[in-house]
Parts: sequence; structure tokens; C-alpha cells
Amino acid sequence: MDEKALQLRFQEQIDAEIKIEPKDWMPDAYRKTLIRQMSQHAHSEIVGMLPEGNWVTRAPTLKRKAILLAKIQDEAGHGLYLYSATETLGISRDEMIQALHSGKAKYSSVFNYPTLSWADIGAIGWLVDGAAIMNQVALMRTSYGPYSRAMIRICKEESFHQRQGFDILYTLCQGSEEQKAMAQDAFNRWWWPSIMMFGPHDAESTHSSQSTKWKIKRKSNDELRQDFVDATVQQAEVLGLTIPDPDLKWNEERKHYDFGAINWEEFWTVVKGNGPCNRERIAARQKAYDDGEWVRDAAAAYAKKHTHAYPSTSTS
Ligand code: 3HC
Repeated sequence: MDEKALQLRFQEQIDAEIKIEPKDWMPDAYRKTLIRQMSQHAHSEIVGMLPEGNWVTRAPTLKRKAILLAKIQDEAGHGLYLYSATETLGISRDEMIQALHSGKAKYSSVFNYPTLSWADIGAIGWLVDGAAIMNQVALMRTSYGPYSRAMIRICKEESFHQRQGFDILYTLCQGSEEQKAMAQDAFNRWWWPSIMMFGPHDAESTHSSQSTKWKIKRKSNDELRQDFVDATVQQAEVLGLTIPDPDLKWNEERKHYDFGAINWEEFWTVVKGNGPCNRERIAARQKAYDDGEWVRDAAAAYAKKHTHAYPSTSTS
């Protein structure tokens, strides 16, 4: 079958909602953009552990500490699912990790902001995981099989992440004036970075049109962003917090909330590595990688020793 026929059959498979599996023929560009998006998704999970890790020893109660530890552990697992799913496309774990450390690969801009108070941990769970859920629920229907299956597993845990964050803020908002002010301050600082998580507007998105044709993306950046705003405004009302956007208002005609202009200059400054915590985050990941070298060496030595111990299973 020539390339043209292969391309045609591939798109027919996509259009028929048949999942693309690792051994299926796929256009190089499909493979390339999946490696890009999936590895960056995995990096986001792993780097996303750092802002919250900062508060494990400062959690206000043993219960909150246990919940936060469980969430951070989940994020590590999400990263591993996604790295494994990306490896099915023919890239090694080490290549992905080196791309992160060198700055060649991105991770979600939202994780480059500092966590200044305990309320930030609530805001991250409620807003960042809330935004991630919007995005990841849509990705459960993505055309690449291993990515879709990873998303189905991950989404089962995300609602706990979002709920525990909302519960932290709800507790603070029922507390003293100082505690409520802490919750509002965190909301003010995390609202816009969470909105930016969905990426540029559709008209400025580099990958959206092709990713949509290939059903990698099932909803556009702006559609997901709008879903997130509409859902979160009502939750903020339950908390009694003020949305830090004077232009936010219900549009009866659109049946959606209109909101103010996003500061894209801030977004691209952070994406390009000049956010408040970018250098600190990559340094932490590089140190963890360096400190873990002995573990990787030990595991490789064990695998080499014990592989010889088992007779080859091949029938040749
Ligand atoms: N942070 C950093 N870079 C971003 C970004 C963000 N929030 N949004 C977009 N970009 C980058 C894109 O990666 C792309 O750059 P690249 O070509 O070097 O990869 C460029 O900006 C143009 O954006 P596009 O809209 O063209 O890119 P995509 O089509 O890939 O859409 C996306 C961006 C919606 C983030 C998409 O990549 C996606 O859905 N990714 C999977 C979900 C994900 O990664 N979420 C991150 C958070 S995970 C998380 O929060 C874990 C939770 O448990 C805490």
C-alpha cells in the first residue's frame, strides 16, 4: 500500500472512532505531535508535585498532611502512566527527561508560580486540578489508545484532587476573617494562571486544527476554558469568594460567562522560562534525577543479573 493509501486508511480509522494502537501505521507527524503533547503532559504531572510538596511539612493537621501526601503520590503515578504511554511511540524515558531538563520540552505554565500560604494548596486542588479535569475528561476520547486509557485511569483520581482543594478553601472561608482573606488572596493569585492552562486562544493555537482533525483534541482550548469558567464561577459563589475579574458577567444570549482579557504577555513570559519559579522547578527535577542515579543503576544491574537467570522463552 503506498503512502497516500496508508494516509487515507489512517484517517478513515480516526473518523470511524477506531483507536490507533502502537503497532498501527500512523503518519510521522501524528506520532511526533503525540510525543510532544503526551510527554509534556507527563512532565506537568511530575513538576506539578513540587509546588504542593512545599506544604507537606506545613499542613495544618495530620489529616490534611495525609490527604496532600496521597494527592502528590497520585500525581507521580499519573506522570508514570503518561511516560509509559508515550514510550509506546518509540521515545525513551531518558530522552523525555533530558528534553525537560534542557528546556526543549514544556510543562504546564501554572506550576511556575509559588505556593505562599496553605490556601494555595486549596486553590491548586480546586482550580488547577479542576482545569485539568476539564481537559482530561475530553482526552479520555483521544484517538491514540494508550493515551485514552491513561486518561481514563487518571480521571478516576482527579475528582478527589479537586474536591480536597475545594474543601480546604471551604474550611478557610468558614473560619476567621484572616483565614477567609488568605483564601481570597490565593484565589486572586491562581485564577488567571489556571485560565491560561488551556493554552492560547484557538485562533493562535499552533496545533489545534490538526490535532482536532486527528481527534487527539476533542474540544478546543477556548471551549475547555469556557467550560471551566462557567463551572468555577458557581463554586466560587458557594465559597463566598470574589472572582478577580471585574469584566466577568453572565451573558444570557451566549448562556456562558464573559470574562476579561487574558494577559498573554505573562503567559508567554512564563512559558519561555521566565516565570517566578521556572529555574527552581527545573533545578529540583535535575537534582532528583541526579540523586536517583544509584537507584537506576541498581535496578539495571538487578535486571541484567536476573535476565540471565531465566531461560529464554523464545521458541527459536
Ligand atoms: N503551559 C505551557 N505551554 C503551553 C500551555 C501551558 N499551559 N498551553 C499551550 N502551551 C504550548 C503548547 O505546548 C505549544 O507549544 P509546543 O508546540 O512547544 O508544544 C504552544 O503553547 C501552542 O499551544 P497549542 O494550543 O498549539 O498546543 P496544544 O494543541 O498542544 O494545546 C494543551 C495545549 C491544551 C495544553 C494541550 O497540549 C493538552 O491538552 N495537553 C494535555 C493536558 C496537559 O498537558 N495539561 C497540563 C496540566 S496537567 C495537570 O495539571 C496535572 C494535574 O493533575 C495537576
